[in-house]
Amino acid sequence: MSGKVVLVTGASSGIGRAIADLLHARGHSVYGTSRRPEAHTAPWRLVAMDVMDDASVLAAVTMVLAEAGRIDVLVNNAGLVVSGAVEDTSIAEARRSFETNVLGPMRVAKAVLPGMRERRAGLVVNVGSLAGRIGMPFQGIYSATKFAVEGLTEALRQEVAGFGIAVTLVAPGDTATPVVENRVRATAATDPASPYAADFARVIAMYEKDEKAGAPPSAVAGLVAGLVEGSRSGARRVVGPAPQRVLVAARNLVPGPIFRWGMSLYFGLKR
Ligand SMILES: NC(=O)c1ccc[n+]([C@@H]2O[C@H](COP(=O)([O-])OP(=O)(O)OC[C@H]3O[C@@H](n4cnc5c(N)ncnc54)[C@H](OP(=O)(O)O)[C@@H]3O)[C@@H](O)[C@H]2O)c1
Repeated sequence: MSGKVVLVTGASSGIGRAIADLLHARGHSVYGTSRRPEAHTAPWRLVAMDVMDDASVLAAVTMVLAEAGRIDVLVNNAGLVVSGAVEDTSIAEARRSFETNVLGPMRVAKAVLPGMRERRAGLVVNVGSLAGRIGMPFQGIYSATKFAVEGLTEALRQEVAGFGIAVTLVAPGDTATPVVENRVRATAATDPASPYAADFARVIAMYEKDEKAGAPPSAVAGLVAGLVEGSRSGARRVVGPAPQRVLVAARNLVPGPIFRWGMSLYFGLKR
C-alpha cells in the first residue's frame, strides 16, 4: 500500500469528493464516506457512514482499520447548511446542524485518535468555513456550528500535539459545489408570513450567487493535499476567493461598529 491511508468524510460530493479524488490520484489509499455509498461510484473505497450515528461511525472506522491497518489522516469534511433566521430555526433543525457539523467531526475523531496516539503519528484536518469567523445573517446556526469547529480544533490541536498528532482547520470561502442544492431551509423560514421573509429571500439569493461563482473545490483539495504530504502546515488555513480572505482579515483589523455597518450595508439590512 503506497502513500498515506486517508479517511475523508462526506466524500460523495463537492469539496470532499475533490479531496478524495486528488489524494487518490496522488497515490494515497483513500477511504471516502457517504450515507448512501451504493448511490455513488469512485476509484477509491466508498464507505458507509452517517456522522450523526455513533454505531455507523464506529463500524466505518473499524472496517478501515481492519482493511488498511491504520488511518494516517482524517479529513472531517461532511457538513450540512441549514439556513433561516435564528428565530425561524427550530431546535430540532439546530440540533441536526450541530450533530452533523460539530458532534460529527468529534465522533469520527474519537474513533480515529486512539490508533493515531498508539502510533504517535497522524493528521486531523477539520473543514470549517469563513462563516466560522463571521456570523452570517440567516445562516446563524450554520455559523454557530463552524465557530464551534474553530474552538474544538484549536483545543484538540493542543491536546494531541504531545502524541505526535497534528490538527489543522481548513476554512474555505465560497466554493462551487452542490451545497446550493443541498442547503436545507428551516421550515418556518419558508413561510411567506415570516417577518424575515423578504430579507431571508434576498440574502440567501446573494449567498447562492456567490457559491455558484465560488472557487473550484480543487482549490481546497490542493491545500489539503499539501497538508497531507507535508508541503503545507499550520493551525488554520483559509482558502477561497481573495475578497473573502480580505474580509476575514478585516474582521480582526477594522473596529467592530464599522465592520458591522459594512455587513448591514452589503446585505441591505436595517440598522
Ligand atoms: N461550498 C462552500 O461554499 C463551503 C464553504 C465553506 C465551508 N464548506 C464546508 O465544506 C464541507 C463540504 O461542503 P460541500 O460544499 O462540499 O457540500 P456538499 O456538496 O453538500 O457535500 C456535503 C457532504 O457531506 C456529507 N454529509 C452530509 N450530512 C452527512 C451526515 N450526517 N453523515 C455523513 N455525511 C454527511 C454528504 O454525503 P452524503 O449525502 O453522501 O452522505 C456530502 O458528501 C462542509 O463541511 C461545508 O460546511 C463549504
